[in-house]
Amino acid sequence: MAANKKLYILPGDGIGPEVMAEVHRVVGWFGKHRAIKFDLAEGLVGGASLDAHGTPLTDKTLADAAAADAILFGSVGGPKWDALPFEKKPERGLLKLRKEMDLFANLRPATVFDALIDASTLKPEVVRGCDIIVLRELTGGVYYGQPRGIETKPDGTKRAVDTQVYSTPEIERIARVGFELAKKRRNKVHSVEKANVMMTGVLWRETVTKLHGAAFKDVQLEHMYADNCAMQLVRNPLQFDVIVTDNLFGDLLSDCAAMLTGSLGMLPSASLGALDQKSGKRHALYEPVHGSAPDIAGKGIANPLAELLSFAMLLRYSFDLAEDAALIETAVKNVLGSGKRTADIVAKGKTPISTTAMGDAVLGELDKLAR
Ligand code: IPM
Ligand code: MG
Repeated sequence: MAANKKLYILPGDGIGPEVMAEVHRVVGWFGKHRAIKFDLAEGLVGGASLDAHGTPLTDKTLADAAAADAILFGSVGGPKWDALPFEKKPERGLLKLRKEMDLFANLRPATVFDALIDASTLKPEVVRGCDIIVLRELTGGVYYGQPRGIETKPDGTKRAVDTQVYSTPEIERIARVGFELAKKRRNKVHSVEKANVMMTGVLWRETVTKLHGAAFKDVQLEHMYADNCAMQLVRNPLQFDVIVTDNLFGDLLSDCAAMLTGSLGMLPSASLGALDQKSGKRHALYEPVHGSAPDIAGKGIANPLAELLSFAMLLRYSFDLAEDAALIETAVKNVLGSGKRTADIVAKGKTPISTTAMGDAVLGELDKLAR
């Protein structure tokens, strides 16, 4: 008999634990109705870990995460920990997980659900049918580049340094993922950088062009400057299929793309490592794009759909369970179609439902689909 799949859950802070509670129920549903058995373990990360252990990520949690088949992550951070020194902040826990497990490929889909077209701040005709993946390089660039720091100069003024740095292997491996993704979609890649002002941009463009010529000539490739890309995303998002970009531009552009869909509360993401040829496995962490949303934490009103859709991505990318992933996605579509909405996406004049009521609604749709 095949071993159970090892799932490691890190709810984190803020609304993380609230939305994760709904995922737990859905995991239970899959165990019962689809005979997909998981070994679940749970750990602390971010502020929750700081409070318990004085660090946003313990070595034990990191080791447990690395040993799992897949990690489902909630969110980290909150005002309680804002005053801490940089290296202790809850966010460092997440950044360390990404780096230590070499989760270099961050897939951030921005899909506009028809039922939610009115939730977008853009005109319906601009966003209808929008289906983009922002593929963000996640373990390099200015997020980790050395040197970095703040120094005090002899005259008492200060000087801060961050370093943007990329090597050809780093660019090549993320671009490769981008081309492979596009081949399974609409065959179009936009490679985004600022080759007009940054040397990393020059190397990025050169490397992507070379790889394209050598291995992916059949994929349509366009280069675009990051500032133009931000503008094009709100002007005409339908032109995009896969956007491949670096860590910092990916952070910005994925938030921008997210808002096309109406709410950050809807968007899942996957962070994938390289395939280990021996074991056939790769490290993978799945998390909603929304943060810990401290302003609404503890109120039971957060939208659990991004976390649920992250679980769907987990089924698809870590376990090749595309059919089961589609079950969740269809259930979510049906719930939205029925008009049930949490506060972040509620239509004008309608009453929003709670986090758990949204969980109930998804489970109800799953039941119908499984019949
Ligand atoms: C994200 C977040 C993180 C990032 C923060 C929380 C460190 O904004 O995942 O997009 O900047 O990468
Ligand atoms: Mg971000």
